[in-house]
Amino acid sequence: MLSERQVSQLNSDFEKLLPKEILAHVSELLPNSVLAFSGAEDVALIDMAIKKRLTPSVFTLDTGRLHAETYRFLEEVRIHYDIQIETLFPEASEVTNLIKNKGLFSFYTDGHEECCGIRKVQPLRQKLRTVDAWITGQRQDQSPSRADVPLIQIDTTFSTKDHQVIKINPMAKWPSSEVWSYIRLLELPYNKLHDKGMASIGCEPCTRSIGPGQHEREGRWWWEEATIKECGLHLTNLEK
Ligand code: ADX
Ligand code: SF4
Repeated sequence: MLSERQVSQLNSDFEKLLPKEILAHVSELLPNSVLAFSGAEDVALIDMAIKKRLTPSVFTLDTGRLHAETYRFLEEVRIHYDIQIETLFPEASEVTNLIKNKGLFSFYTDGHEECCGIRKVQPLRQKLRTVDAWITGQRQDQSPSRADVPLIQIDTTFSTKDHQVIKINPMAKWPSSEVWSYIRLLELPYNKLHDKGMASIGCEPCTRSIGPGQHEREGRWWWEEATIKECGLHLTNLEK
């Protein structure tokens, strides 16, 4: 268990490191950690980890509402790196009840929390009970709500009184341009929806392309206010 002081010291130490060096450090400090994979940043992290000869344990949350292109992308990454990607699914009875009571698109009228809660947050919570830390591809320039994302933090959303969960965001300081230079230069696999103007990709009904001058995550849950454009995965970003 890390104290707030230790986490704060690690944050300063990590400031001097590249994302790949942070990954190497974390694999020693918190070997029971998992990498959450869904998008471009996460592929870059997988690539860096593998090149450092680390053996990251990778999972993805399959909400059942992803784009066909995303499934192709997940498979491309699995084959490209010859890695296992653990797919986490929502509890079937919860999805059944939601659809029975509210239909398939309740999030447009009720907000996304309920559906995200069932399809993403619950499976993630279960997974995080079994590990000490998770690694995400969050970046500070993704949206205003992420401007303060640290390199390492205590995940107050998923920690309990008996079990601390640490969250590591090795790409926090990288701007989008750096991620994409890395991907293009090294010809890494990426989700082909990016070629259709989608910057941040989530579930199909809740993602659309963005226009000039919009921040990356404005195409997510676009019918909701910018301040609440976080699903329960990253609620720590809304704590002030
Ligand atoms: S989200 O909360 O709005 O969906 P975003 O798409 O910006 O998050 O992704 C930020 C990071 O959260 C990703 O780099 C990844 O580490 C993690 N993440 C998001 N969605 C998933 C998913 N479906 N499966 C696994 N990890 C995910
Ligand atoms: Fe449901 Fe949309 Fe959240 Fe996906 S992003 S889990 S479809 S509300």
